Amino acid sequence: MGLRIIQISDCHLFADPGKTLLGVNTQDSFQAVRDKVRAEENGIKLILLTGDLSQDHSEAAYLRLAEMMKPLRAPAYYVPGNHDDQALMARIFPRDNILTDKQLIIDNWQIILLNSQKPGAVEGLLDASQLKYMQDCLQAYPEHHAIIVFHHPPFHVGSEWLDNLCLSNSEEFWQIAPQYPNVRMVLLGHVHQEHKSTMFNIDCYSTPSTCFQFMPHQKNFMLENRPPGYRWLDLQDDGRIETGIKRVAKYVGTFDENAKGY
Ligand SMILES: [Fe+2]
Repeated sequence: MGLRIIQISDCHLFADPGKTLLGVNTQDSFQAVRDKVRAEENGIKLILLTGDLSQDHSEAAYLRLAEMMKPLRAPAYYVPGNHDDQALMARIFPRDNILTDKQLIIDNWQIILLNSQKPGAVEGLLDASQLKYMQDCLQAYPEHHAIIVFHHPPFHVGSEWLDNLCLSNSEEFWQIAPQYPNVRMVLLGHVHQEHKSTMFNIDCYSTPSTCFQFMPHQKNFMLENRPPGYRWLDLQDDGRIETGIKRVAKYVGTFDENAKGY
């Protein structure tokens, strides 16, 4: 086994722990996923939280997230999603095991966490400062295998409504990232589904949400009746990555087949 990393995404927590979204109590659902990680994963090196951590971007939601992450006993690092309040997160974190570092160097691996939030928009943007930061990191550790992490996919996943809300400047990202042959993977949230695309020989993965899932390959918004889950990754010395999804046993909440958005 290499370095074991866990990705947890799109928790959409509320200040009110009793609140539901599309029939799902997002805290209960998050806890079910967390408990599965706790029961099944040993020797976690670190956890990546890939955005939309709070639905109402409230202080109480972020504080409760930190509290709920504690039992996993591993450092967790985050990128913001479109629903997050970065200024608030920067005031609250680091707290407990949620840390704020954006460049992680572990053995011969480098993980770079970028901010793809476009202020006031659902779609994403990697602005010039983020793209420069990525380049600076890649140039600083040319011998390290690299994983780049942000919220909005820089490609289409095949659902028209969602593809209008992905990264708005994907071309710029793809003009830069493939120049660095040590980029092994791009890891994403936002799409509430398991997805893999390979772009310029770089494998890009998204991960199920810890609450509700979006049905793949739909013109319009539709939920999928599948349980929430997380992604595990094993980083090998030679740059290979093994990865997969684990889901909890059943949907947490009441599946809303008529949901039209949220
Ligand atoms: Fe989300």
